[in-house]
Amino acid sequence: MNTPSIVVLKLGSSVLPGPAAFATVVQEIYRHVRQGQKVVAVVSAVEGQTNRMLADAEAVSAEPAPHLLAEFAGFGERQSTLLLALALERAGVPAVHLSPAELGLIALGAPLDADPAALDTTRLRAALEAHAVAVVPGFVAQDQAGRPVLLGRGGSDLTALFIADALGRAECRLIKDVDGIYERDPAVPGVAPRRYREITWADALAVAGKLVQAKAVVFAESRALSFEVAALGAAGGTRVGPGPTRLMPQLHPRRPLKVALFGAGTVGYGVYRHLASQPERFEVVGVAVRDVANPRPEDLPRELLTDDPWELLARPADVVIELLGGEEPALEIIARALESGRDVITANKPIVAEHGALLEEIAVRHGRRIAWSASVGGSLPAVELARQAAARGGVQAIDGVLNGTCNFILDRLAAGNSFDAALAEAQARGFAEADPTQDISGGDAAAKLRILARAAFGAELHARQVRTTGIDGLDAVAVHAAAQAGTATRLVASCALEGSALAADVAPRLAPAGDPLAAVHAEWNLLRIRFEDGAEMVARGKGAGRWPTAEAVFADVLDVWRGDWHQTAVWCQSPPPKPLAHLAATGT
Ligand code: HSE
Repeated sequence: MNTPSIVVLKLGSSVLPGPAAFATVVQEIYRHVRQGQKVVAVVSAVEGQTNRMLADAEAVSAEPAPHLLAEFAGFGERQSTLLLALALERAGVPAVHLSPAELGLIALGAPLDADPAALDTTRLRAALEAHAVAVVPGFVAQDQAGRPVLLGRGGSDLTALFIADALGRAECRLIKDVDGIYERDPAVPGVAPRRYREITWADALAVAGKLVQAKAVVFAESRALSFEVAALGAAGGTRVGPGPTRLMPQLHPRRPLKVALFGAGTVGYGVYRHLASQPERFEVVGVAVRDVANPRPEDLPRELLTDDPWELLARPADVVIELLGGEEPALEIIARALESGRDVITANKPIVAEHGALLEEIAVRHGRRIAWSASVGGSLPAVELARQAAARGGVQAIDGVLNGTCNFILDRLAAGNSFDAALAEAQARGFAEADPTQDISGGDAAAKLRILARAAFGAELHARQVRTTGIDGLDAVAVHAAAQAGTATRLVASCALEGSALAADVAPRLAPAGDPLAAVHAEWNLLRIRFEDGAEMVARGKGAGRWPTAEAVFADVLDVWRGDWHQTAVWCQSPPPKPLAHLAATGT
């Protein structure tokens, strides 16, 4: 097994103004998960919550017992831990939450301003072995007698740095509402201060004021531990460490990225919501839908809607997000968008499976980027894992559960439900394709396998090369009986090197208890990659549904935002070029 690197992210109160902010915080966590990292998310209470708790306590007792006060004030962090666990669950990111007791996090000294002294890293490492993310509360710990203590105001910074140090000097990022440490508080009116690219611990102590807990900086210096102070979603930040202290060059303020969104269905609407929640970064210039008269959620502004995709494509935009599904006009929209200088993000499986290589070639030719993380596995970072595997080299085989609808139906059959009722529920939950035959026939999983085979092996698999059997021919009674006997039925997509050829198939298989495939439930997906040297990579995530898929699309969008590509993008001010004849010819 490859050992993934660990990043400790501290998500402070300033980025948690209320419950809605947890969805944004998930994006920051998912960004690291899809790079193959394990994440320890250290959360603070939502903004103002600790003050409210302390005021409430004071209203009841002018001289509260310190351990009682510590337990009470720590509720804010516990609440955030659970809200983040809920938000990760919605997005389909495998996570576990741990209390200070479960972490064995001991702190000594004054109960309201204690210093962390010990952590049971075995427990934390085991949690990270089984999950992509471990959510832990900042600010709170226990004393040696098991009584609650606090690490002082701003103590979540210290929790994060202490954990990073204990995990063998893991990468640590303190996420704040500013993108780093500045010469002066940038919120104070006056000449805009400059940001530090890098700063010594001592200088950080002098200028960072309330931004980073002083005790935490002192701890980091005592351990010679470098860390970063950064904003949510931002690429850089300020590195705090041995220095030398250096300022960033003055940057011009960035304008928001203009986004043309094609599709406002299950996933499209989710992506719209993410875009609209960050107006300082994204401006949606229009949303193409099949029929503007169809009922839509109230917070999707009617004036953005158009049923003319070509008119939308002609509007100035830096990025085109294609979530219409189907072959046409989606393929032509993608190709024209690239040719007219826009980056493209799509979740369109058939198009990526059939035309992915060609579209990448067009993107390269036009100096643009095309990304399709969401085409396989929703929030399971499948394409990313396959690419990481290819970069490592020596991939022998890939297999997994790649269709959420089928897996959901199989679980329902196992529980004794009928096929039709299970399919109807999968459709109602937004898991199934517009034409669910694609799911149950195995065609959707086969398209995803082809996309992964290209990423992992660098080889084109044609549709006819994937022997495909769906779940439509399965006997529901037999699936139920097998489940009663402890064996799960799973639709498994596999592809392996046999000599110099690739053998690929999609078929229902029996997974005995203990097989990781048997533990993949409902709409969850799993991908395993095996290497010639016996190593293995595994990842899980929710493979279907609005929020997991929107998470993957939006992760690609944030990549574009971070990449600065739009600063140089050629805007399409004139009508886009004519349809591409060569694309029509490849659709065989
Ligand atoms: N219909 C697909 C599935 C959606 O059920 O997996 C995600 O690609």
